[in-house]
Amino acid sequence: MTLLRSAASRALLALALALAGCAGQAAAPPQPLAVQPVAWPPSADLGPVRAVADDGRRVVLFHDGAAAVFVDGALARVERAPHRWVGAAALPAPDGHGTWIVGVDAEGRLLRLPSQGALEPVSDRYGLERAPVRAALGLGGGGAAFALDGEIAVADGATVTRYATGPLATFAAGGGRVAFALGDGLRALDVATRALLSYPLPDGPAPLLAVTGAGRLLAATSAALYEEDAAGVLRLRLRASAALHGLAVSGDRVWFADGDELGVLDGTGARQTRGARLPRGGKLIGSPSGDVWLLASGALRRFSPGDAAPAWDDLAPVVARACAPCHLPGGEGGVDLSTPAAWTTTTSLRESIARRVLEERTMPPPGRALSEADRARIRAFIGRMRPAGP
Ligand code: HEC
Repeated sequence: MTLLRSAASRALLALALALAGCAGQAAAPPQPLAVQPVAWPPSADLGPVRAVADDGRRVVLFHDGAAAVFVDGALARVERAPHRWVGAAALPAPDGHGTWIVGVDAEGRLLRLPSQGALEPVSDRYGLERAPVRAALGLGGGGAAFALDGEIAVADGATVTRYATGPLATFAAGGGRVAFALGDGLRALDVATRALLSYPLPDGPAPLLAVTGAGRLLAATSAALYEEDAAGVLRLRLRASAALHGLAVSGDRVWFADGDELGVLDGTGARQTRGARLPRGGKLIGSPSGDVWLLASGALRRFSPGDAAPAWDDLAPVVARACAPCHLPGGEGGVDLSTPAAWTTTTSLRESIARRVLEERTMPPPGRALSEADRARIRAFIGRMRPAGP
């Protein structure tokens, strides 16, 4: 049952002003990045793609009048319905169990695409009543955020809180924070504490925003990319070589588009492709797999860092810490999950892992925490696997 806590909470507490640091240290010259276009099955003759929702295992392409569902990279079904889509997302279900794939249509309707059956309107399930929805985003850690007309709504399963913002230019969410750009700068709302931080940018309003799984804000103008530091100050990370026009968080990775090149930010620096020849004006869309989608003029492409396919080495420490206590051979978990073969050979076990760990979140059992970063590693590893055999 959803309670509507406040119609338009203006209680924007703790308005803290963090002055952007014009740190003298610009990022080091980018090292070249190799990317691989990932073969992606086209959804036959459905026309231009308008929006993409990706929960790591399911990818849904929203076309005018149809939604094509891919599971583990294979087309599973096409649902036809006369909607013009403007957005899509994989959101935590309102009751917190599982993930819902939703589309946002041009009339402001929020519709869920269930694994079977027709699209169903779900605005009321998230406590949004009749407000037109313009965009929907997962908050990370269980909630969802919605851009309404001049308002943001945050639904955490128990309550819905609406914040009057005025017209929104851009909107991003992650790690329990919602970021948005208004005429005079950036704001980031911490959903748990309701603290609102305000960030002026040295060179004008930011057209691109993203929030990492850890809740760190990233903002880019066409000239430069900034990242929030531990003290909540936006620091220059990179100056554009051409013009920045895309920014997306994919699992632990931050992707950007600069002119006709793609780049990723890592620990300290940034790497950029040479000669990727991206179409301009495309939109980058994050994927929990760590890959990135590029949607340009209705055409969808997917890229993977050529040199960083998730390997067992990434996953092994997570398994040792979070699963092995119960999932060694003969362990109380009943199935051995301690070897790469256990994770890669059987499709049904992989599906069971995806369901129990990523969707239902019933593994590890209650009382045993699993961080979002660990979950992203598990998602990246199994998301890359394809069903074995014919
Ligand atoms: C505290 C012990 C414990 C930990 C830690 C644990 N599990 Fe389990 N797991 C169990 C038990 C007990 C079962 C069998 C009962 C059940 O299905 O709930 C099980 C069942 C499962 C199943 C279903 C197996 C099947 O036959 O389909 C999967 C998948 C699974 N666990 C994955 C994981 C993963 C992945 C991790 C680590 C991220 C993990 N578990 C951590 C105790 C644990």
